[in-house]
Amino acid sequence: MGLFDRFKRRKALPLPPASVPAEPWPPEPVAAFPDYYQFEPEPQAEQPAWMKYPVTPPKGHIIVFANEKGGVGKSTSAFHTCISLCNAGERVSALDVDLRQLTLHRALWARQESEREYNVKLAGPDQIMLVQQNENELEEKLRMARIHSSFIIIDVGGHDSPIARKAIFMADTIVTPVNDSFIDLDMLGRIDPRTGELKTLGNFARLVEHLKEPGMFLQPKALDWVVMQNRSRNFATKNEKKVMEALEKIAPIAGFRLVPGLRERVTYRELFPMGLTLFDLDAIPELGRLQPKARDEIWAMLRALNLPSAALNRAIAIPDETASVAEK
Ligand SMILES: Nc1ncnc2c1ncn2[C@@H]1O[C@H](COP(=O)(O)OP(=O)(O)O)[C@@H](O)[C@H]1O
Ligand SMILES: [Mg+2]
Repeated sequence: MGLFDRFKRRKALPLPPASVPAEPWPPEPVAAFPDYYQFEPEPQAEQPAWMKYPVTPPKGHIIVFANEKGGVGKSTSAFHTCISLCNAGERVSALDVDLRQLTLHRALWARQESEREYNVKLAGPDQIMLVQQNENELEEKLRMARIHSSFIIIDVGGHDSPIARKAIFMADTIVTPVNDSFIDLDMLGRIDPRTGELKTLGNFARLVEHLKEPGMFLQPKALDWVVMQNRSRNFATKNEKKVMEALEKIAPIAGFRLVPGLRERVTYRELFPMGLTLFDLDAIPELGRLQPKARDEIWAMLRALNLPSAALNRAIAIPDETASVAEK
């Protein structure tokens, strides 16, 4: 068989059947449906809930109580702010970064013991505990807490540390309690005792300034820094007045607001170890009576903090007529 014969045989083989019948091209025009085939448009399904809400998660407001100075009232004011927010019905998380003392956590554990001892139900926060005790863990736990809590209260120790810096960096509000002492002011600014001139900003003010620098954030966020006068006395001493004048000079340069805090009262020291505030005395009357002046000053402190809580602002705006008028 020659080459040509083989070619002829192959051509004679039948073609494989086409699996899909070929479409006519161009396609035939579709006949218009008669009128009775025209249906009413289908009603649109209602928009699902997940499309109606913003996609960004709810963002808890972080309040950091910090001052590179011990014994100024950070834990006391953090505890009162925390319990007031809980009483107002806000969901709060509390975290103590002062790992050597854990004052805030110990007060909150004492609160749970008081609940059992006096058989009452007291409002309280969720407690965040750090296990690895480093900045990454702090950041991760704060991210989680921000989703389910409307406020996160952080008590920062009286010394500089990477974890304290991280807490300050993540704060929406920084509260720095100070006492009426020029030694306490050193961390905020140095004032010449003779001329009263501001010489330089203090280390803590520089730290906050550094953490607030626009370059540190993609979008600089509005940070509220509040310096709070704690343990002031009823009759302002000459020294207290001088300290206030000095703070007023430092405030515009360092970028903080100066607000009134708690006055010097034994009751804050007495109730704190039991994890109680004056407001809990309504539930446990055997421990004493609510002092209206103290209550008013706690409310004034909360008002000055200007927190984004409608519930708290409603509670502190309305005078509590049920409160006893007796002063301790
Ligand atoms: N307003 C106040 N009145 C009376 N005592 C106070 C007041 N604020 C704080 N203290 C007391 O001062 C001490 C230091 O307060 P604390 O809150 O522990 O400060 P920090 O956390 O800054 O170290 C504690 O003994 C506390 O009971
Ligand atoms: Mg403390």
